[in-house]
Amino acid sequence: MDKKVTVVGAGNVGATAAQRLCEKELCDVVLVDIVEGVPQGKSLDLTEAAPIEKHDAHLTGTNGYDETEGSDIIIITAGIPRKPGMSRDDLISTNAGIMKSVTREVAKRSPDAVIIIVSNPLDAMCHVAYEASGFPKNRVIGMAGVLDSARFRAFISMELNVSVENIHAFVLGGHGDTMVPLPRYSTVAGIPITELMPKDRIDALVDRTANGGAEIVSLLKTGSAYYAPASAAVEMAESILKDKKKVLPCAAYLEGEYGFKDLFIGVPVKLGAKGVEEIIEITLTDDEKAALQKSADAVEELKGILKKLG
Ligand code: NAI
Ligand code: 2OP
Repeated sequence: MDKKVTVVGAGNVGATAAQRLCEKELCDVVLVDIVEGVPQGKSLDLTEAAPIEKHDAHLTGTNGYDETEGSDIIIITAGIPRKPGMSRDDLISTNAGIMKSVTREVAKRSPDAVIIIVSNPLDAMCHVAYEASGFPKNRVIGMAGVLDSARFRAFISMELNVSVENIHAFVLGGHGDTMVPLPRYSTVAGIPITELMPKDRIDALVDRTANGGAEIVSLLKTGSAYYAPASAAVEMAESILKDKKKVLPCAAYLEGEYGFKDLFIGVPVKLGAKGVEEIIEITLTDDEKAALQKSADAVEELKGILKKLG
């Protein structure tokens, strides 16, 4: 393939993302993990599936970084996931250390890459990667809104018994309990769901979306969601690799947009070859603005913890 994507962390999200990337024939994939044998074994296993899945993407598994050189995109999933009873924020000190060291390794070997962050707590990890990489703001992007919106879309489809393909939805804000699903901007074949469902049902779906990650954790018990998160990261990667310029909700670095400065938070962005090519500012009601402010305050709090960690 003429494109190369490195996935750091060969765990549940990373390995599933690697599988999706190669089975869609988007790129060659380098899978990196700290555990010896795991990225090598998973890459070989995926390579052995290639004749059946009919793709010619090359996979490389490694515990080092030399093989990542010249990547177009780096997807970072390295870190620990949450277990029942843990919030995403409980992961901050362990994952901040991992994020800093991983970002330095990948950034020096792929100085022109776009970095997609997956590790939690997502918005805080974007700040760590932004600083550690020294990359311009358009090339450090967090994956959360695509996942949270996909969950909202799935729940709308289940509620109304309509095709998921008809449904668009927007979830903004930080990737936590304070995320901001926007029913007014969520549609079925262009019709806002506010026209199709009573308020109490919309509120129930909004609540289920905001707690979507915890719902999966409580079912799996040993880790967190990975099929939908991997799909979400790969949709972002595809838009960048193919310069599709899809408008997707992603964590982007704001410098005044939506009234926030020096903050990564989920907003609608246009994703193309340069990464974030535009931040799209939509009109929000006073209630939506207040919800976004609350979400931004939660991210600011995590930034404060990062500062203390040094
Ligand atoms: P996992 O435990 O299955 O995989 C994580 C992998 O990272 C492991 O294989 C581990 O060995 C590796 N790793 C740890 N330290 C490393 C290092 N220094 N260098 C390279 N690899 C290292 O976890 P899973 O389920 O894949 O989740 C990964 C992260 O993504 C977690 O922090 C999780 O909370 C987050 N996540 C974020 C989502 C989002 O919407 N942004 C959605 C789902 C997961
Ligand atoms: C999720 O939303 C754990 O952030 C992860 O599933």
